[in-house]
This record gives sequence, C-alpha cells and structure tokens, in this order.
Amino acid sequence: IPDHYETALSSVLIPHGVIMDRVEKLAKLIVQESTGPLVVCCVLKGGHQFFADLVNYIKKNVTRGGKTVPLSLEFIKVKSYSGETSGEVKLSLTDEECKEFSGKNILIVEDIIDTGKTMVQLLAKLKQYSPESVKVASLLIKKTPLSNGYIPDYVGFAIPNAFVVGYALDYNEYFRDLDHICVISEHGKEKYAVSKN
Ligand code: PRP
Ligand code: MN
Ligand code: MG
Repeated sequence: IPDHYETALSSVLIPHGVIMDRVEKLAKLIVQESTGPLVVCCVLKGGHQFFADLVNYIKKNVTRGGKTVPLSLEFIKVKSYSGETSGEVKLSLTDEECKEFSGKNILIVEDIIDTGKTMVQLLAKLKQYSPESVKVASLLIKKTPLSNGYIPDYVGFAIPNAFVVGYALDYNEYFRDLDHICVISEHGKEKYAVSKN
C-alpha cells in the first residue's frame, strides 16, 4: 500500500495476488468458450487494469499450447452518473466506432457492475450495430439493493455493498494507482474529497 493511501483505506478486500489468480482462470475459461476471433473491448477508465491483465493471460494461455484465439482490441470510454436520479450514462462512442462491432464476437471488459445501469445501456447501444455475439466479463459484481438484476457472463468476484477502490477503480479519480482492491475509509473519503484535490 503506498504511503499516500495508508490511512485512507479501512481494509484490503482482495489482495493483488488473489486478483491475478482469478484473472488467469477467467482468461482460460474465455479461451475455452470462444468460437472464433474476439474483439476485446475495454471500458475506460475503470476497466483498464483488468483488461490489460486479462489480455496478457489470454496471450500466455495461447503460448502454453492452449487453443489459439486471435484478439483485436477496442477501447470505449463510459462515464455513469449513477448518483443522480436520471442514472444517465455518457458513452463516448461514435456511429463510426460502433460499426467496428457489426458481425463480430465482442467481449466487453469492465471493472465492476454496481447498479448495472452502465452495462445495460452500453449493451443496448452495441446491439443496435448487430454484432455476431456480445459477452461481458466484469471483475466485480456488487451485491446491492440498487442492482437492476444484470449479471455478466464472466465474473471475478461478488463483493459486499461497500465503496471499493484500487486496481483501476477510483474515488474522485484517486486510488487507481493501488494494486489491491480495498474498502475506502471515512478519512479517505475526506482526504480525497473532490473539493480538496
Ligand atoms: C464505474 C465503473 C463502471 C460503472 C458501474 O465507472 O467503472 O463502469 O461505474 O456502475 P453502475 O453499474 O452503477 O452503472 P465510472 O462511471 O465511475 O467511470 P470510470 O470507469 O471512468 O471510473
Ligand atoms: Mn467505469
Ligand atoms: Mg469511477
């Protein structure tokens, strides 16, 4: 844990090594279940670390003599405003970019399903461009009464209803530079409050 986050966290929920073991297993499963070339689509920003490690393990799995799957990589930026009543999701996806997905097997890679609003809206948008198939891998799914019921195809860990940070998950853009997935402390929320950055 870096010094700057030492007092800002109340517990380590998932240590980095445990995350990596799980990501490796998910990579193997994804390769086993794939039926052809995959477009692996990273949902920025939170999905970037899981995406990077997942793609790495898929590559290693292939070089170990496993089944080979050609990957192409896409990146989309999505920002949710789940705190607001609208639950609106801002997608940085042009029609031009969406056309890249038509007729392809897509694997969307996300860090967390919280309410599920982001993923449901993203899937609705992508499906307008008639991909061959769309699957979703999310490292985390939160057990929350605010869930809309969406469950991804591949899940790393189901976590309790707490505000978690690290491994690219942020609080006001901080904590992405933390290897472990941790629960933020009350002090951490104050220290990294938006007005104090
Ligand atoms: C977070 C997270 C998911 C989404 C989950 O992203 O990375 O994308 O919210 O929330 P939901 O299931 O309630 O919709 P955020 O909008 O904070 O953007 P970021 O990835 O850039 O941090
Ligand atoms: Mn996100
Ligand atoms: Mg965020």
